[in-house]
Amino acid sequence: MTKSNIRYTRYFAETIQRMREDGLLLVTAHNDGKPNVMTIGWGTIGSIWGRPIFLALVRPSRHSHSLIEEVSEFTVNVPPRELASALSHCGTVSGRDHDKFGEAKLTVTPSRMVKPPIVEECVIHYECRVVHKNDLVPESLTQAIRDDFYEQGDFHRVYFGEIVAAYADEDADIRLRHKPAAGPLPLAG
Ligand SMILES: Cc1cc2nc3c(=O)[nH]c(=O)nc-3n(C[C@H](O)[C@H](O)[C@H](O)COP(=O)(O)O)c2cc1C
Repeated sequence: MTKSNIRYTRYFAETIQRMREDGLLLVTAHNDGKPNVMTIGWGTIGSIWGRPIFLALVRPSRHSHSLIEEVSEFTVNVPPRELASALSHCGTVSGRDHDKFGEAKLTVTPSRMVKPPIVEECVIHYECRVVHKNDLVPESLTQAIRDDFYEQGDFHRVYFGEIVAAYADEDADIRLRHKPAAGPLPLAG
């Protein structure tokens, strides 16, 4: 499938919708190039400092956290609906002791601008370089959010990734056509 360059805002609504349904795939890599993939349910796309930014929230307990610290780049990949079980696997087990690309039958394809690869089976891709990172400030969070999401601590680090390349399959529109979610949307983060 040919993947053509897009404006980074072209699939904003579809990207957020898929993130709220099954999640997106965040790919990181070791210095030696070995990749890891994890599901993310929280994040957004925006314009900050006059740059296109993908904002991703990663808890310190994730293997992906160590990898972004090692190589300050990541890719975000928007999955078609048929990858739902891969999303569930990549959001449940850790790359510390699993080869998730192999287990979930996902294909590693080199990126255009950054070291971490993309997931070939996904239909939209954002390649990102970290330009800023920031830890959540527990005492600045409303109590309700602390109670709901941070009982164990493990407060997210927020990564501001400048989108240095964005591209999509030519049939991305058709494959992502909106289908209302059957049940409550996942709140995992
Ligand atoms: C739907 C869904 C969304 C998730 N969103 C996030 C997220 O935004 N940030 C995060 O740190 N973990 C999130 N997780 C949890 C990680 O994907 C999970 O802990 C994963 O096993 C970490 O893999 P790693 O240790 O290989 O990095 C999510 C899990 C699921 C199932």
